[in-house]
Amino acid sequence: MNSANNTDLAQTSQAHGQGTGDNAIQRVLVLEMVRVTEAAAVAAAQLIGRGDEKAADAAAVEAMRRAFDTLYMDGTVVIGEGERDEAPMLFIGEKVGIGKGPKIDIALDPLEGTTITAKAGPNALAVLAAAEEGCLLNAPDVYMDKLAVGPGYPEGIIDLAKSASDNVRAVAEAKGVKPSDINVCVLDRPRHADLIAELRALGCGVVLIGDGDVAGVIAVTDEETTVDMYMGQGGAPEGVLAAAALRCVGGQFNGRLVFRNDDEKARARKWGIEDLNRIYKLEDLAKGDCIFAATGVTDGSLLRGVKRRRKPTGETILTTESVVMRASSGTVRWIRGEHRIG
Ligand code: FBP
Repeated sequence: MNSANNTDLAQTSQAHGQGTGDNAIQRVLVLEMVRVTEAAAVAAAQLIGRGDEKAADAAAVEAMRRAFDTLYMDGTVVIGEGERDEAPMLFIGEKVGIGKGPKIDIALDPLEGTTITAKAGPNALAVLAAAEEGCLLNAPDVYMDKLAVGPGYPEGIIDLAKSASDNVRAVAEAKGVKPSDINVCVLDRPRHADLIAELRALGCGVVLIGDGDVAGVIAVTDEETTVDMYMGQGGAPEGVLAAAALRCVGGQFNGRLVFRNDDEKARARKWGIEDLNRIYKLEDLAKGDCIFAATGVTDGSLLRGVKRRRKPTGETILTTESVVMRASSGTVRWIRGEHRIG
């Protein structure tokens, strides 16, 4: 994570054949994305439980920005920290990477779960998705209605145009269980009171999370979480990130943008979104080959958070846990890192 290493990294990337002229995501880039999420997670972890959301976010953003500088790619942030005038770094449209090599679009959230981090709660992540140019939806920063289910169900089993009850019944029938055996993860927000009441009336288990719906959606892909479905409104950018993960590991997702006022509608139109009621499926949000990478900041259902250990030798070691996945191969890599910081 220093400038000498940065040069080495760029050279390593070239030595491994990146930037051969074609625009496909190169294999080496997959692993290098983990360096980027690791750097953001390590920086944010210094501020876990310190009650300062902004400082934690700023640390993650700055570290992620620096880590991108090492990558052999011509990257563009399509989902980032906001628009240029409101975000000094990693704003939408900002170029990242060394400016040579494959043209890659990046969706990122250097700290998904700023409040979680400030309060030392579970499931904060440093996360990004990368895809070939034009393959990620340029989602405006509005809410999105989300509905997700894990892999193995018939295509089209979920449908955001139908009620929550109908979706639970369809998934229960396909799984061969009763609706009351289905567990649904939902963000704990007042706006979800009716949804939660409807699910409880069916007898479902409702797994309420305080924040962090990227991890919430991904939980449907992991049997160990016992979460069958994800439902409810969260950030649209987080919806694209979660969709990229599901493209890699399987599962189904429906998302529909939610606009609270005309200004939000105008922002969507600015990004080329004409049908404001469209229901987006996985391929509409993240198509082609794509990569999803995440590193845990705090412990969560997907990843363990950053841990600091001081050795008897006086050395301090930070351990990180990350996952990186690629849609075209379906490969999922779990990576445990040890970082010596002095
Ligand atoms: P931040 O990292 O920006 O704090 O987002 C956390 C989060 O819980 C997301 O996971 C989720 O999509 C969104 O906030 C929900 O928004 P709200 O807190 O307004 O309900």
